[in-house]
Amino acid sequence: MNSKFKRILVTAALPYANGVIHLGHLAGAYLPADIYARYQRLKKRDIVFICGSDEHGVAITVTAEKEKITPKAVVDRYHALNKTAFENFGMSFDNYSRTSLPLHYEVTQEFFRELHRRKILREKEEKQLYCEKDKMFLADRYVEGTCPNCKYTQARGDQCENCGTWLNQVELIDPKCKICGAMPIVKATSHWYFPLGEFQTRLQSYIAERSKRDGWKENVLRYCESWFKEGLQDRAVTRDLSWGVPVPVAGYEKKVIYVWFDAVLGYISSTKEWAARQGNPAAWKNYWQQEDTKYVAFIGKDNVVFHCIVFPAMLMGWNDGGKEQYVLPENVPANEFLNFEGQKFSKSRGWGIDLQDFLRFFPADPLRYTLAFNLPESRDSDFYLKDFQARANNELADILGNFVNRTVAFTEKNFGGKVPKLGALEKIDKEMIAFLKETPAKIGDFYERYKFRDGVVESMNLARAANKYFNDSEPWKTSKSNPDQCATTLHICLQIVRSLAVVFQPVTPAISERMWKTLNITTALQEESWDSAGTLKLTESHILNKPEILVTKIEDKQIEDVIQALSDAPAPQKLQQTTEIKPMIALDDFKKIDLRLARVIAAEKVPKSEKLLRLQVEIGSEKRQIVAGIAQHYQPEQLVGKLIVVVANLQSAKLMGQESQGMLLAANDDNGKLSVVTILDDLPTGSIVR
Ligand code: 2FM
Ligand code: ZN
Repeated sequence: MNSKFKRILVTAALPYANGVIHLGHLAGAYLPADIYARYQRLKKRDIVFICGSDEHGVAITVTAEKEKITPKAVVDRYHALNKTAFENFGMSFDNYSRTSLPLHYEVTQEFFRELHRRKILREKEEKQLYCEKDKMFLADRYVEGTCPNCKYTQARGDQCENCGTWLNQVELIDPKCKICGAMPIVKATSHWYFPLGEFQTRLQSYIAERSKRDGWKENVLRYCESWFKEGLQDRAVTRDLSWGVPVPVAGYEKKVIYVWFDAVLGYISSTKEWAARQGNPAAWKNYWQQEDTKYVAFIGKDNVVFHCIVFPAMLMGWNDGGKEQYVLPENVPANEFLNFEGQKFSKSRGWGIDLQDFLRFFPADPLRYTLAFNLPESRDSDFYLKDFQARANNELADILGNFVNRTVAFTEKNFGGKVPKLGALEKIDKEMIAFLKETPAKIGDFYERYKFRDGVVESMNLARAANKYFNDSEPWKTSKSNPDQCATTLHICLQIVRSLAVVFQPVTPAISERMWKTLNITTALQEESWDSAGTLKLTESHILNKPEILVTKIEDKQIEDVIQALSDAPAPQKLQQTTEIKPMIALDDFKKIDLRLARVIAAEKVPKSEKLLRLQVEIGSEKRQIVAGIAQHYQPEQLVGKLIVVVANLQSAKLMGQESQGMLLAANDDNGKLSVVTILDDLPTGSIVR
């Protein structure tokens, strides 16, 4: 870490208390944040790790109306569920707060008042959608309609989930009230706006400077770039709702502060709550208002704009007042998305697995380890149950667990369970000790740069090297032929067990704790220092405990049970049943099919047909017409410009009187959902696909 910094503030996105945490959330933000925080604690850095529930917003009031309960009941339920699930997952937050607490109201209102007093916020009267039946303005998710940008039919009033565009709700095509389904009218209402556009230049230099200093991730920079390119606009920071932090301005008694404005301030109020709990209420200021604090905000990619643009601008606005100066994020290492068994996690489609459910079947550490291996650090990644089983069994159990187990068992049998003497060192011993010494720093260097996957790979490599050292040293032979050498080997192996317990602590804390117990070390594992993780600290004759089972293997049956539980869920949750594979063919048969890359240059519906689209495609220098039964799955304009794969040597056929000169490739699931095969990178049309 840059020596300019004396302490670290780590925040992880405050999850909405409107649903439960799933594995995608963990991979996006929470696991990396926890590995980072645990590692920094072992580095003996002054760090505070902050999170909590985000408890306002329309999503919550919609749930409350649906269930005929109060919004408070909704957030109480999910706050409790998520807090417990996080604890069971081993998240080491220093504080897990809630944005419905009075303290948070104070913090948010003070912030709002200050920006208002300094005339940064502007009042504007604007046209909004109003439902005459429900007698209310339809904020955010209370209205749904077609996105003017991408034509997605379920775009919300504030943003289109499909293309990410921020929308002004009156631009929605065919808007509908989400409560009663009626078409709303347009009516004027006043709100306070934050002039984001005025901060654009400063935000751009802020990001450029921090990114140079701390190495921001490419994906994050790309998102920011696209927002800047579009040009930042004023954003309304109040809403016509009753659930939220009341707007502290006369005449606005019936309105609340926009959920995102209050959510990001939740990091500050949670830190204040933590400080008060420590008995040192002013301590929060050290983390938020000292320029030698390094602030790292862990989030998933869908939150980039709020953490890299909106929140920093709010803090700049406050700082301009010359009052206390808030630190801005030094880095926002956002991850991409994790898919589950090849498909996007989706609450609405009921696809994926919740953390609390997963932990009913398996312990947390193998999950943490597998997720760490599959973190979507630079692109979307996948979680497969089979991969989870393989990593748990073949790596955690067979490499790490096995090494610890054979070392401790051998010591028990041959040295009475005491750390044997380190004697003269052979080349193989020296090499092992050297590798051990350099490994923690190597892992730490990855963690400092938010490369958690690489850090975890490196950690397992130490266990791998240790097993190889054990094998190559053949202590079962030297115990008879050269007892001193045998003692030296086991001495070094036991030192490695201690090192492994420390370096695995950020990733698999429960397993590390068990290793620590086996080693019978009286100081707590957390008291250890990362910097001495690679040194030989166990003393000769130190007495070990009996080994415990370190990692239990995952049986096929357990995986099948989860798959079964998933398939028992409602229809869309079903895992795809693979229909029977057709009889084998020879390669030559396959080669008869000429698959080519083609670009769709025009598309339209076939008149009088519900199913058919007529596409004009370019295949190299050739133009062709292809008729495909995909009209119920795509609007014609969604396909124009796409690179697709076509069978170029299929005899032409007539469909509803239209000639089709080829066939495009598409995939189908059991529920009839269809997706056209496209390719990732731009290649010339006509390219052969094989
Ligand atoms: O995306 C979400 O789940 C938001 N609740 C994250 C909020 S992060 C911060 F602003 F609080
Ligand atoms: Zn859209």
